[in-house]
Amino acid sequence: MSKRSLSFICQNCGAAASRWQGKCEACGEWNTLAQEGDERPAGPGRKASKGRLFALEPLTGEAHDAPRLPSGVAELDRVTGGGFVRGSVLLMAGDPGIGKSTLLIQATAALARSGHRAVYISGEEAVAQVRLRAERLGLRDAAVELAAETSVEDIIATLSEGKVPRLIVIDSIQTMWTELVESAPGTVTQVRGSAQALIRFAKKSGAAIILVGHVTKDGQIAGPRVVEHMVDAVLSFEGEGSHQFRILRAVKNRFGPTDEIGVFEMTGAGLREVANPSELFLSERDLGTPGTAVFAGMEGTRPLLVEIQALVAPTSLGTPRRAVVGWDPSRLSMVLAVLEAHCGVKLGGHDVYLNVAGGMRIQEPAADLAAAAALVSSLANSPLPADAVYFGEVSLSGAIRPVAQAAARLKEAAKLGFTRAVVPEAAKSETGEGGLKASTVANLTHLVADIAALGKTRTAGKTHGQDG
Ligand code: TYD
Ligand code: MG
Repeated sequence: MSKRSLSFICQNCGAAASRWQGKCEACGEWNTLAQEGDERPAGPGRKASKGRLFALEPLTGEAHDAPRLPSGVAELDRVTGGGFVRGSVLLMAGDPGIGKSTLLIQATAALARSGHRAVYISGEEAVAQVRLRAERLGLRDAAVELAAETSVEDIIATLSEGKVPRLIVIDSIQTMWTELVESAPGTVTQVRGSAQALIRFAKKSGAAIILVGHVTKDGQIAGPRVVEHMVDAVLSFEGEGSHQFRILRAVKNRFGPTDEIGVFEMTGAGLREVANPSELFLSERDLGTPGTAVFAGMEGTRPLLVEIQALVAPTSLGTPRRAVVGWDPSRLSMVLAVLEAHCGVKLGGHDVYLNVAGGMRIQEPAADLAAAAALVSSLANSPLPADAVYFGEVSLSGAIRPVAQAAARLKEAAKLGFTRAVVPEAAKSETGEGGLKASTVANLTHLVADIAALGKTRTAGKTHGQDG
């Protein structure tokens, strides 16, 4: 009997320990260590071979096919940077039920329809279930090759036969297992071993492989964080359960940009591409309510207008509540601190809630000005003009700093019927296009004064809660 060495592997980060511990020393997570068999090194009975000779090749040489293959789903191609790269492996991560399988069956069907060999391997659903879904999506006629398998060796053996597939979807990597590793499917070691084998197969055959990976509640790719380092690209599929919008984002991409997003809408007939997301995100606006501001943002090369909603209400708690959905909480704290310190807006006795409409998540500092405008508007109970957009970065001194791509933001706003823009001074020269009237603010104090003045003229004499 071969002696098996056992070690304890953290199911979160993949670190190994020689004995059980309550806390993983590498990532600090509790109760994540589990005993697993080692990935068999050259053990007894598996003598290291002498080594096969291989040919070294020059950089110049024949490149056979176009290295990139557009999927036929434009929003997906935008995120990957123009399509699937031959021999590359992509990890598609997302919450269970977000629509990963739906998107990928649609992508494989689109590829198959344009005459490429596309294979969909499901480790989670039976073939009949996948068929049923394809039927509902109207994809029955597409020549996708389907199987419900979980053994990596069987999958590789089968797919090595015949024409090399252009795309192979493995749904999901957590259900795969390889004989090379002696631990249960779903463990970090198995996931890593299976991913390694599939990556090797992709490089050797030239097929593009997409691995589906589930994400845990706290947003980590469950178990196989290790897989992130091994693959060429990681795409994250996000969305709020209660919204029909889904956003595909590149987290890592060896062959393309990481700042582009793809926007989809989940409908009864699968995922629909949204070519103009601003229209979608602004479609349910409540015009004339205090506490909402439209932010003219950028996602990669595409301008995106979203509504930022704020609610500032007197608190009954000792420590007022600050809650943010869709934006960075530390940026909210910063904007609140600047409002307090430089603009005389006292928020210590108020709860503050900030929400980005439509389930969108904003990462740009350019949203500072829109967030500040929404906050002040809510506090002053004074609605902002419905035809205005906002962008600009707030510095700690309260100055409004310029942001990149002002012209593209303004053009998009004009296209959607906005007539005013509140912008940093540097963006003034870029306005004028599409009849947009720009008012510049040099300092957050000016913005607060403008909004307060707006409230005064509107309510003609009534005083409102701008305390301080
Ligand atoms: P699915 O692709 O199975 O998610 P994942 O693979 O990420 O776990 O999507 C499941 C959800 O999508 C499910 O809640 C139902 C919804 N859905 C639709 O709304 N319309 C559709 O046409 C399909 C196929 C799914
Ligand atoms: Mg699925």
